[in-house]
Amino acid sequence: MAKKKTIFECQSCGFQSPRWMGKCTSCNEWESMVELSTDQIKFLKEMSSSSSSSTAISKAKPITQIEEDNITRFTSGSIELDLVLGGGIVPGSLTLIGGSPGVGKSTLLLKIAGNLAREKKKVLYVSGEESAGQIKLRANRLDANHDNLYLLPEISLNAVIGEINNQSYELIVIDSIQTLYSDDTPSAPGSVTQVRTITFELMRIAKSLHIPIFIIGHITKDGSIAGPRVLEHMVDTVLYFEGDTNSELRLLRGFKNRFGATNEVGIFEMNKEGLNDAKSMAGKFFDKDKLQSGSALTVIMEGSRPIIIEVQALVSESYGHAKRSSTGFDNNRLGMLLALLEKKLDLPLGTYDVFINISGGIKVNDPSADLAIIAAILSSYRNRELSSDSIFLGEVSLTGEIREVSGLTQRLKEIETQGFKKAVIPNTPQEKTNIKCFVADEVAKVVEWM
Ligand SMILES: Nc1ncnc2c1ncn2[C@@H]1O[C@H](COP(=O)(O)OP(=O)(O)O)[C@@H](O)[C@H]1O
Ligand SMILES: [Mg+2]
Repeated sequence: MAKKKTIFECQSCGFQSPRWMGKCTSCNEWESMVELSTDQIKFLKEMSSSSSSSTAISKAKPITQIEEDNITRFTSGSIELDLVLGGGIVPGSLTLIGGSPGVGKSTLLLKIAGNLAREKKKVLYVSGEESAGQIKLRANRLDANHDNLYLLPEISLNAVIGEINNQSYELIVIDSIQTLYSDDTPSAPGSVTQVRTITFELMRIAKSLHIPIFIIGHITKDGSIAGPRVLEHMVDTVLYFEGDTNSELRLLRGFKNRFGATNEVGIFEMNKEGLNDAKSMAGKFFDKDKLQSGSALTVIMEGSRPIIIEVQALVSESYGHAKRSSTGFDNNRLGMLLALLEKKLDLPLGTYDVFINISGGIKVNDPSADLAIIAAILSSYRNRELSSDSIFLGEVSLTGEIREVSGLTQRLKEIETQGFKKAVIPNTPQEKTNIKCFVADEVAKVVEWM
């Protein structure tokens, strides 16, 4: 008789192993391994074979004979959300929206649900977190009341599926995936097994009934969707909210999109009437008149849009082990820039604490901010303000060279529109603007100029 195959699965990260372990080797969680039942193993097998059609007679065809899917997107009523989605909502798509608590996930999706209900689309909002009365209260605030918007406070997946099958909805919002549970699996709501089963079911509904479904997912402290990486692999589109809950700005960033590019970022403003498209981002991330020593301005590209941001540095004498800490900027990159300053400019930064902050809760991934970080550090170190009408742009290499940045002309145009006069830029060909450019190819030269 064949030996029974057993699989143990970590309920925190989804890692699978043929043996039980006290501590998951993938996410280091203790006592999270659970043995899967034979039903669950069968389900897993079905799932992995379902994406490729499971009928034995499916045959490969030359790509030239295949007709493309005709995608007709419709607008969500929010220009920013449409932008991140790649031009609007795709029917039959499954979209995951993640973010920390209070960032505005429910607010945004209820608003979108209201927008579409007004456009005569029948919308279902499933909430396992709040009562219908609570959602109604929010809907009043967002002006999302409409006869076509249906609320379902429910945590049982079967009940939700029953409702969807009985009515003809054109958009479904699930708030949140971690509160739904399926009776078919014994594990707790929010566990990997539950989330995977539910997502799989929702995917099947979205594809078979051609309804777009938005799922809200909570984020753990380390920034991943609670429990399941598996969830990200299964859905069509993954969007994450970024931003400081203390400021009114929120960024919605695409991480995965089967129907469009992922480099666009949606920018929203949180106010009494909910989360609305930011009218203009210009000037939101800096205050030109309040620049002090330790502040420098730069332009980063968020998708196709240039945004001027302020970077702040605090350099202060250290008592004991020198600290390096940054918010919104990569800590390793900060270490590299500091090492460079020590080596090339003989600054004794080893005896100083250095803190970096990007204002407005924005996370900078664009290497063109390097030069502004250096300028801010120097400004704080010398306790001397930088000129408030200058902008610093350039990626810094390990040798202290200033490298080209992409989209320089576009960035300079933004600088000009915002009324700045001067910019320190790398040696890159650009179109003529009215900005006085100081072209620098080396960090040491910029420092002399400052
Ligand atoms: N009456 C109100 N006026 C203004 N802002 C509010 C009001 N009520 C809630 N908010 C804002 O909405 C946020 C909650 O958003 P919500 O969509 O529930 O977040 P999430 O679903 O991501 O946890 C709060 O952080 C708060 O800033
Ligand atoms: Mg919520």
